[in-house]
Amino acid sequence: MMPALLNEKQKRVAAVMEHASGDKRFKILEAHMKKHQYRHDALIEILHKAQELFGCLDDDLLLFVAYRLKLPASRVYGVATFYHFFTLKPQGRHTCVVCLGTACYVKGSNSVLAAVEEKAGIKAGETTPDGQLSLLTARCIGACGIAPAVVYDGTVTPRQTPETALEHLKGWMPNGH
Ligand code: FES
Repeated sequence: MMPALLNEKQKRVAAVMEHASGDKRFKILEAHMKKHQYRHDALIEILHKAQELFGCLDDDLLLFVAYRLKLPASRVYGVATFYHFFTLKPQGRHTCVVCLGTACYVKGSNSVLAAVEEKAGIKAGETTPDGQLSLLTARCIGACGIAPAVVYDGTVTPRQTPETALEHLKGWMPNGH
């Protein structure tokens, strides 16, 4: 089909799939869905995996899951918003996701998280009062070879330390200078 003839929904799905193609986390999620044979009754399990990988469930991620499972997006949104253990994308202008999976943890990602929490004055799962920064954690983002990894606004960044993380977040925090 010619791109010009795509309707809004198809364009949105095409944009999400293009975004997904360059992000290893989507590949891991895809493998997880395959393992569950794309079964609709595995939706909660798949959303858990998605949250582990990304730290929260944002629109692109929910659309990706809906598209791959061939479920209406409304159903996937409904489940994601109904259960308290799912975190939807927080409202901060910027997001920082610290991986606390085993490989990252043993290389000190907890001290990275602690440094950011202290400097930003928020805990994981919260957003700074000025709305600039949301801080999240994930449990293995598929980048163990470059542990400890942190994702800044969607960019997976290798071998972080408290110092490099705070440097990266300069300008995203009220007292980040
Ligand atoms: S444990 Fe952090 S990327 Fe795997």
